Amino acid sequence: MIRRAVVAGVGHYLPERVVPNSEFEATLDTSDEWIRSRSGIERRHFAAEGETTSGMAAAAARAALADAGMGVDRIDAIVLATSTADLTFPSAATMVQAALGMERGFAFDVQAVCAGFAYALANANALILSGQADRVLVIGAETFSRILDWTDRSTCVLFGDGAGALVLEARTGGGTSEDRGILATDLHSDGRYRDLLYVDGGVSTQSTGFLRMQGNQVFRHAVEKLAQTAEDALAKAGLTAEDVDWIVPHQANIRIIQGTAKKMGLPMEKVVVTVQDHGNTSAASIPLALSVGKAHGQIREGDLVVTEAIGGGLAWGAVVIRW
Ligand code: UT7
Repeated sequence: MIRRAVVAGVGHYLPERVVPNSEFEATLDTSDEWIRSRSGIERRHFAAEGETTSGMAAAAARAALADAGMGVDRIDAIVLATSTADLTFPSAATMVQAALGMERGFAFDVQAVCAGFAYALANANALILSGQADRVLVIGAETFSRILDWTDRSTCVLFGDGAGALVLEARTGGGTSEDRGILATDLHSDGRYRDLLYVDGGVSTQSTGFLRMQGNQVFRHAVEKLAQTAEDALAKAGLTAEDVDWIVPHQANIRIIQGTAKKMGLPMEKVVVTVQDHGNTSAASIPLALSVGKAHGQIREGDLVVTEAIGGGLAWGAVVIRW
Protein backbone atom coordinates (compact mmCIF):
# COMPACT_ATOMS: atom_id res chain seq x y z
CA MET A 1 0.00 0.00 0.00
CA ILE A 2 1.32 3.48 -0.85
CA ARG A 3 0.31 7.11 -0.38
CA ARG A 4 -1.47 8.78 -3.29
CA ALA A 5 -2.48 12.42 -3.78
CA VAL A 6 -6.16 12.10 -4.72
CA VAL A 7 -8.37 14.89 -6.13
CA ALA A 8 -11.00 15.58 -3.45
CA GLY A 9 -12.49 18.75 -4.98
CA VAL A 10 -12.22 21.22 -7.85
CA GLY A 11 -13.49 24.75 -8.47
CA HIS A 12 -12.90 27.92 -10.44
CA TYR A 13 -13.51 31.64 -10.63
CA LEU A 14 -13.80 33.88 -13.70
CA PRO A 15 -14.04 37.67 -13.58
CA GLU A 16 -17.40 39.10 -14.58
CA ARG A 17 -16.29 41.10 -17.63
CA VAL A 18 -16.42 39.06 -20.86
CA VAL A 19 -14.67 40.57 -23.88
CA PRO A 20 -15.58 39.20 -27.33
CA ASN A 21 -13.02 39.29 -30.17
CA SER A 22 -15.01 42.01 -31.90
CA GLU A 23 -14.04 44.49 -29.15
CA PHE A 24 -10.44 44.50 -30.45
CA GLU A 25 -11.57 45.48 -33.95
CA ALA A 26 -12.14 49.09 -32.83
CA THR A 27 -8.53 49.70 -31.75
CA LEU A 28 -6.40 47.17 -33.67
CA ASP A 29 -5.91 45.98 -37.25
CA THR A 30 -7.45 42.60 -36.44
CA SER A 31 -10.71 40.69 -36.88
CA ASP A 32 -12.88 38.19 -35.07
CA GLU A 33 -12.29 35.89 -38.06
CA TRP A 34 -8.46 36.03 -37.73
CA ILE A 35 -8.50 35.43 -33.96
CA ARG A 36 -10.98 32.52 -34.22
CA SER A 37 -9.30 30.79 -37.15
CA ARG A 38 -5.69 31.18 -35.88
CA SER A 39 -6.29 30.51 -32.18
CA GLY A 40 -9.81 29.16 -31.59
CA ILE A 41 -10.47 31.99 -29.11
CA GLU A 42 -13.90 33.68 -29.25
CA ARG A 43 -13.96 35.58 -25.96
CA ARG A 44 -12.03 35.95 -22.70
CA HIS A 45 -12.64 37.33 -19.20
CA PHE A 46 -10.73 40.35 -17.93
CA ALA A 47 -10.33 41.24 -14.26
CA ALA A 48 -12.03 44.43 -13.06
CA GLU A 49 -9.97 47.37 -11.86
CA GLY A 50 -8.67 46.48 -8.41
CA GLU A 51 -9.36 42.76 -8.85
CA THR A 52 -6.23 40.76 -8.00
CA THR A 53 -4.69 37.38 -8.69
CA SER A 54 -4.89 36.42 -4.99
CA GLY A 55 -8.54 37.51 -4.81
CA MET A 56 -9.47 35.31 -7.78
CA ALA A 57 -7.33 32.47 -6.39
CA ALA A 58 -9.15 32.65 -3.04
CA ALA A 59 -12.53 32.51 -4.81
CA ALA A 60 -11.47 29.42 -6.80
CA ALA A 61 -10.08 27.84 -3.60
CA ARG A 62 -13.39 28.39 -1.77
CA ALA A 63 -15.23 26.68 -4.65
CA ALA A 64 -12.82 23.71 -4.56
CA LEU A 65 -13.14 23.38 -0.77
CA ALA A 66 -16.95 23.45 -1.07
CA ASP A 67 -16.77 20.76 -3.78
CA ALA A 68 -14.58 18.65 -1.44
CA GLY A 69 -16.93 19.30 1.49
CA MET A 70 -13.85 20.34 3.45
CA GLY A 71 -13.14 23.21 5.81
CA VAL A 72 -9.94 25.23 5.35
CA ASP A 73 -8.87 24.12 8.84
CA ARG A 74 -8.00 20.74 7.31
CA ILE A 75 -5.63 22.17 4.67
CA ASP A 76 -1.90 21.83 5.39
CA ALA A 77 -0.46 23.74 2.42
CA ILE A 78 -1.29 26.04 -0.49
CA VAL A 79 0.72 25.81 -3.71
CA LEU A 80 -0.21 28.63 -6.10
CA ALA A 81 0.99 28.71 -9.69
CA THR A 82 1.17 32.27 -11.05
CA SER A 83 3.38 34.66 -12.99
CA THR A 84 1.21 37.65 -12.07
CA ALA A 85 1.30 37.82 -8.26
CA ASP A 86 -0.28 40.89 -6.64
CA LEU A 87 3.05 42.12 -5.24
CA THR A 88 6.73 41.26 -5.71
CA PHE A 89 6.47 39.69 -2.26
CA PRO A 90 4.98 38.18 -0.17
CA SER A 91 3.71 35.35 -2.28
CA ALA A 92 0.14 35.49 -3.56
CA ALA A 93 -0.27 32.11 -1.82
CA THR A 94 0.20 33.67 1.62
CA MET A 95 -2.42 36.31 0.70
CA VAL A 96 -4.82 33.49 -0.19
CA GLN A 97 -3.95 31.80 3.11
CA ALA A 98 -4.97 34.97 4.98
CA ALA A 99 -8.08 35.53 2.84
CA LEU A 100 -9.27 31.98 3.61
CA GLY A 101 -8.69 32.46 7.34
CA MET A 102 -6.09 29.67 7.37
CA GLU A 103 -3.93 30.11 10.44
CA ARG A 104 -1.72 27.04 10.16
CA GLY A 105 0.33 25.20 7.55
CA PHE A 106 2.35 26.94 4.83
CA ALA A 107 1.88 28.56 1.43
CA PHE A 108 4.10 29.43 -1.51
CA ASP A 109 3.99 30.41 -5.19
CA VAL A 110 5.35 28.42 -8.13
CA GLN A 111 6.41 30.36 -11.22
CA ALA A 112 6.63 28.33 -14.43
CA VAL A 113 4.37 30.56 -16.56
CA CYS A 114 1.87 28.53 -18.63
CA ALA A 115 3.36 25.24 -17.37
CA GLY A 116 2.86 26.47 -13.80
CA PHE A 117 -0.03 24.22 -12.90
CA ALA A 118 1.85 21.07 -13.94
CA TYR A 119 4.78 22.24 -11.78
CA ALA A 120 2.41 23.06 -8.88
CA LEU A 121 0.77 19.63 -9.08
CA ALA A 122 4.18 17.92 -9.11
CA ASN A 123 5.24 19.93 -6.03
CA ALA A 124 2.00 19.26 -4.16
CA ASN A 125 2.23 15.56 -5.03
CA ALA A 126 5.78 15.42 -3.65
CA LEU A 127 4.66 17.15 -0.41
CA ILE A 128 1.95 14.54 0.02
CA LEU A 129 4.07 11.51 -0.91
CA SER A 130 6.85 12.65 1.47
CA GLY A 131 4.39 12.99 4.36
CA GLN A 132 4.97 16.76 4.71
CA ALA A 133 1.28 17.45 4.03
CA ASP A 134 -1.97 15.48 4.00
CA ARG A 135 -4.19 18.00 2.22
CA VAL A 136 -3.00 20.61 -0.26
CA LEU A 137 -4.84 23.36 -2.12
CA VAL A 138 -3.28 23.59 -5.59
CA ILE A 139 -4.27 26.78 -7.41
CA GLY A 140 -3.54 28.36 -10.79
CA ALA A 141 -4.46 32.07 -10.99
CA GLU A 142 -3.47 34.87 -13.36
CA THR A 143 -4.20 38.47 -14.32
CA PHE A 144 -2.35 38.48 -17.66
CA SER A 145 -4.43 41.50 -18.73
CA ARG A 146 -2.06 43.56 -16.55
CA ILE A 147 1.01 42.67 -18.64
CA LEU A 148 -0.48 42.93 -22.14
CA ASP A 149 0.67 45.53 -24.65
CA TRP A 150 -2.68 46.74 -26.05
CA THR A 151 -0.96 47.99 -29.19
CA ASP A 152 0.51 44.56 -30.06
CA ARG A 153 -2.17 42.62 -31.97
CA SER A 154 -0.01 39.48 -32.07
CA THR A 155 -0.30 38.99 -28.29
CA CYS A 156 -3.03 41.06 -26.61
CA VAL A 157 -5.92 39.20 -28.31
CA LEU A 158 -4.75 35.82 -27.00
CA PHE A 159 -4.81 36.04 -23.20
CA GLY A 160 -7.40 36.20 -20.42
CA ASP A 161 -7.75 36.24 -16.62
CA GLY A 162 -9.11 33.64 -14.20
CA ALA A 163 -8.35 31.04 -11.54
CA GLY A 164 -8.90 27.34 -10.88
CA ALA A 165 -8.14 25.15 -7.86
CA LEU A 166 -7.92 21.52 -6.78
CA VAL A 167 -7.93 20.01 -3.30
CA LEU A 168 -5.49 17.09 -3.15
CA GLU A 169 -5.82 14.65 -0.25
CA ALA A 170 -3.50 11.83 0.88
CA ARG A 171 -5.21 8.47 0.55
CA THR A 172 -3.92 4.93 0.41
CA GLY A 173 -3.60 3.11 -2.90
CA GLY A 174 -2.52 -0.37 -3.95
CA GLY A 175 0.42 0.98 -5.97
CA THR A 176 -1.07 0.20 -9.39
CA SER A 177 -2.29 2.43 -12.23
CA GLU A 178 -5.83 1.60 -11.10
CA ASP A 179 -5.32 3.75 -7.96
CA ARG A 180 -7.08 7.09 -7.80
CA GLY A 181 -4.76 10.11 -7.58
CA ILE A 182 -1.66 11.47 -9.29
CA LEU A 183 0.02 8.52 -10.98
CA ALA A 184 2.97 10.28 -12.65
CA THR A 185 4.50 13.69 -13.34
CA ASP A 186 6.97 14.76 -16.04
CA LEU A 187 8.62 18.21 -16.00
CA HIS A 188 11.09 19.97 -18.33
CA SER A 189 12.53 23.38 -19.05
CA ASP A 190 15.10 24.74 -21.48
CA GLY A 191 16.23 28.32 -20.83
CA ARG A 192 17.96 28.57 -24.21
CA TYR A 193 14.48 29.40 -25.54
CA ARG A 194 13.75 32.16 -23.01
CA ASP A 195 13.49 34.83 -25.73
CA LEU A 196 10.50 33.15 -27.40
CA LEU A 197 8.06 34.19 -24.66
CA TYR A 198 8.93 36.61 -21.86
CA VAL A 199 8.03 39.86 -20.11
CA ASP A 200 10.49 42.65 -20.94
CA GLY A 201 10.66 43.99 -17.40
CA GLY A 202 10.95 42.94 -13.77
CA VAL A 203 12.13 43.89 -10.32
CA SER A 204 15.88 43.59 -10.84
CA THR A 205 15.64 45.58 -14.08
CA GLN A 206 13.49 48.18 -12.26
CA SER A 207 10.63 48.08 -14.75
CA THR A 208 7.28 46.39 -15.19
CA GLY A 209 7.29 45.33 -18.80
CA PHE A 210 4.90 43.69 -21.23
CA LEU A 211 4.48 40.17 -22.54
CA ARG A 212 6.47 39.51 -25.72
CA MET A 213 6.06 36.34 -27.80
CA GLN A 214 7.31 34.88 -31.03
CA GLY A 215 4.07 32.93 -31.38
CA ASN A 216 4.90 30.86 -34.43
CA GLN A 217 8.19 29.69 -32.85
CA VAL A 218 6.45 28.67 -29.61
CA PHE A 219 3.82 26.92 -31.73
CA ARG A 220 6.48 24.80 -33.42
CA HIS A 221 7.91 23.59 -30.10
CA ALA A 222 4.50 23.05 -28.56
CA VAL A 223 2.97 20.12 -30.44
CA GLU A 224 6.16 18.07 -30.43
CA LYS A 225 7.07 18.67 -26.77
CA LEU A 226 3.51 18.32 -25.44
CA ALA A 227 2.84 14.96 -27.09
CA GLN A 228 6.25 13.71 -25.91
CA THR A 229 5.84 14.79 -22.27
CA ALA A 230 2.29 13.38 -22.14
CA GLU A 231 3.49 10.04 -23.51
CA ASP A 232 6.50 10.00 -21.15
CA ALA A 233 4.27 10.71 -18.13
CA LEU A 234 1.91 7.91 -19.20
CA ALA A 235 4.87 5.53 -19.61
CA LYS A 236 6.05 6.35 -16.06
CA ALA A 237 2.61 5.19 -14.86
CA GLY A 238 2.82 2.03 -16.99
CA LEU A 239 0.10 3.35 -19.32
CA THR A 240 -0.27 4.42 -22.96
CA ALA A 241 -2.43 6.91 -24.86
CA GLU A 242 -4.98 4.11 -25.39
CA ASP A 243 -5.75 4.16 -21.65
CA VAL A 244 -6.60 7.89 -21.62
CA ASP A 245 -10.19 9.03 -21.01
CA TRP A 246 -9.50 12.79 -21.10
CA ILE A 247 -6.68 15.02 -22.25
CA VAL A 248 -6.96 18.35 -20.43
CA PRO A 249 -4.41 20.53 -22.23
CA HIS A 250 -3.16 24.01 -21.54
CA GLN A 251 -5.62 26.18 -23.46
CA ALA A 252 -3.45 28.40 -25.67
CA ASN A 253 -4.50 27.57 -29.21
CA ILE A 254 -7.03 25.10 -30.64
CA ARG A 255 -4.59 24.16 -33.41
CA ILE A 256 -1.93 23.17 -30.81
CA ILE A 257 -4.58 21.20 -28.89
CA GLN A 258 -5.73 19.40 -32.06
CA GLY A 259 -2.16 18.77 -33.24
CA THR A 260 -1.15 17.25 -29.89
CA ALA A 261 -4.22 14.99 -29.76
CA LYS A 262 -3.56 13.84 -33.33
CA LYS A 263 0.09 13.10 -32.57
CA MET A 264 -1.04 10.99 -29.60
CA GLY A 265 -3.62 9.19 -31.77
CA LEU A 266 -6.54 10.50 -29.68
CA PRO A 267 -9.85 11.83 -31.07
CA MET A 268 -11.00 15.35 -30.11
CA GLU A 269 -13.97 13.72 -28.29
CA LYS A 270 -11.44 12.88 -25.56
CA VAL A 271 -10.17 16.45 -25.18
CA VAL A 272 -11.59 19.07 -22.81
CA VAL A 273 -11.60 22.39 -24.70
CA THR A 274 -12.29 25.78 -23.09
CA VAL A 275 -9.99 28.02 -25.14
CA GLN A 276 -12.98 29.50 -27.03
CA ASP A 277 -14.41 30.94 -23.79
CA HIS A 278 -11.32 31.70 -21.67
CA GLY A 279 -8.47 32.46 -24.10
CA ASN A 280 -5.02 31.67 -22.72
CA THR A 281 -5.12 32.11 -18.94
CA SER A 282 -1.57 30.76 -18.47
CA ALA A 283 -1.25 28.76 -15.20
CA ALA A 284 -5.00 29.01 -14.60
CA SER A 285 -6.04 27.32 -17.84
CA ILE A 286 -5.69 23.67 -16.77
CA PRO A 287 -7.50 23.92 -13.41
CA LEU A 288 -10.20 26.03 -15.12
CA ALA A 289 -10.61 23.30 -17.77
CA LEU A 290 -10.64 20.54 -15.13
CA SER A 291 -13.36 22.38 -13.21
CA VAL A 292 -15.47 23.09 -16.32
CA GLY A 293 -14.90 19.53 -17.59
CA LYS A 294 -16.18 18.11 -14.30
CA ALA A 295 -19.15 20.52 -14.17
CA HIS A 296 -20.14 19.53 -17.73
CA GLY A 297 -20.16 15.84 -16.74
CA GLN A 298 -17.15 15.00 -18.91
CA ILE A 299 -14.63 14.07 -16.19
CA ARG A 300 -15.92 11.44 -13.74
CA GLU A 301 -14.45 9.53 -10.82
CA GLY A 302 -12.11 6.79 -12.03
CA ASP A 303 -11.37 8.46 -15.40
CA LEU A 304 -7.74 8.63 -16.53
CA VAL A 305 -6.93 12.31 -17.09
CA VAL A 306 -3.72 13.64 -18.65
CA THR A 307 -2.87 17.34 -18.37
CA GLU A 308 -0.08 18.91 -20.42
CA ALA A 309 1.25 22.45 -20.81
CA ILE A 310 4.07 24.54 -22.28
CA GLY A 311 5.00 28.18 -21.89
CA GLY A 312 7.68 30.75 -21.18
CA GLY A 313 11.10 29.37 -20.28
CA LEU A 314 10.46 27.32 -22.25
CA ALA A 315 8.96 25.20 -19.47
CA TRP A 316 6.67 22.25 -20.10
CA GLY A 317 5.31 19.12 -18.48
CA ALA A 318 2.48 16.65 -18.01
CA VAL A 319 0.63 15.03 -15.12
CA VAL A 320 -1.33 11.77 -15.17
CA ILE A 321 -4.27 11.68 -12.75
CA ARG A 322 -6.79 8.91 -12.05
CA TRP A 323 -9.73 11.19 -11.14
O1 UT7 B 1 0.67 29.73 -23.50
C1 UT7 B 1 2.03 29.82 -23.75
C2 UT7 B 1 2.35 29.21 -25.03
N1 UT7 B 1 1.90 30.06 -26.12
C3 UT7 B 1 1.37 29.48 -27.17
O2 UT7 B 1 1.21 28.29 -27.18
C4 UT7 B 1 1.09 30.34 -28.36
C5 UT7 B 1 1.63 29.66 -29.57
N2 UT7 B 1 1.41 30.37 -30.82
C6 UT7 B 1 0.20 30.58 -31.37
O3 UT7 B 1 -0.82 30.27 -30.78
C7 UT7 B 1 0.15 31.15 -32.76
O4 UT7 B 1 1.47 31.20 -33.27
C8 UT7 B 1 -0.49 32.55 -32.86
C9 UT7 B 1 -2.00 32.45 -32.65
C10 UT7 B 1 0.13 33.47 -31.83
C11 UT7 B 1 -0.27 33.15 -34.26
O5 UT7 B 1 -0.70 32.26 -35.26
P1 UT7 B 1 0.26 31.92 -36.52
O6 UT7 B 1 -0.53 31.10 -37.44
O7 UT7 B 1 1.51 31.32 -35.96
O8 UT7 B 1 0.50 33.33 -37.17
P2 UT7 B 1 1.87 34.17 -37.35
O9 UT7 B 1 2.41 34.60 -36.03
O10 UT7 B 1 2.80 33.40 -38.25
O11 UT7 B 1 1.32 35.43 -38.11
C12 UT7 B 1 0.67 35.34 -39.38
C13 UT7 B 1 0.24 36.74 -39.81
C14 UT7 B 1 1.33 37.79 -39.71
O12 UT7 B 1 1.23 38.62 -40.84
P3 UT7 B 1 2.23 38.44 -42.09
O13 UT7 B 1 3.61 38.62 -41.53
O14 UT7 B 1 1.97 37.04 -42.60
O15 UT7 B 1 1.79 39.51 -43.02
C15 UT7 B 1 0.94 38.57 -38.50
O16 UT7 B 1 1.40 39.90 -38.53
O17 UT7 B 1 -0.85 37.21 -38.99
C16 UT7 B 1 -0.56 38.52 -38.54
N3 UT7 B 1 -1.21 38.74 -37.25
C17 UT7 B 1 -2.48 39.18 -37.12
N4 UT7 B 1 -3.40 39.53 -38.03
C18 UT7 B 1 -4.60 39.91 -37.59
C19 UT7 B 1 -0.70 38.52 -36.02
N5 UT7 B 1 -1.63 38.82 -35.08
C20 UT7 B 1 -2.74 39.22 -35.74
C21 UT7 B 1 -4.00 39.66 -35.34
N6 UT7 B 1 -4.91 39.99 -36.28
N7 UT7 B 1 -4.38 39.72 -34.03
